[in-house]
Amino acid sequence: MKSLLVLNGPNLNLLGQREPEQYGSSTLNDVEALCRQKGESLNLGVECFQSNHEGVLIDAIHEAGRNHKSGELIGVVFNAGAYTHTSVALHDAIKGAQVPVIELHISNVHARESFRHHSYLTPAAIGVVAGFGVNGYALAIQALAERAEMSS
Ligand code: DQA
Repeated sequence: MKSLLVLNGPNLNLLGQREPEQYGSSTLNDVEALCRQKGESLNLGVECFQSNHEGVLIDAIHEAGRNHKSGELIGVVFNAGAYTHTSVALHDAIKGAQVPVIELHISNVHARESFRHHSYLTPAAIGVVAGFGVNGYALAIQALAERAEMSS
């Protein structure tokens, strides 16, 4: 069975208690369960990983690149949190690893503060899902699955 990686960055471990007006009441555990359920419906394994550390996220992208190359992993759904707006290193990691990445945001970052309007990840990503709450993870998994189907 092929698989995909759901990668969450800084502060997403606080989902459920953190700014519920922006991010809703689901916890990270709930989100990961939703992703596994969506994967099951598409016959895809779902790995989930969260880190608050930029370098650890870079390592996870590199590993995803290796697993993509070997044919096991169709891609990554990546919510990089605030690193989206600051990290050239994550941009370079995605480019370097050559793994399909969908950039994901729970909130509509373009309707929020201007410092959230710029993303270093978008030019390296195959697409962006933003503003659909935690259901965006299921939408991104669907999109990744359809894209992998098209290219197989
Ligand atoms: C976020 C949006 C980012 O601007 C913010 O720093 C986050 C979460 C989202 O999911 O809406 O941590 O990526």
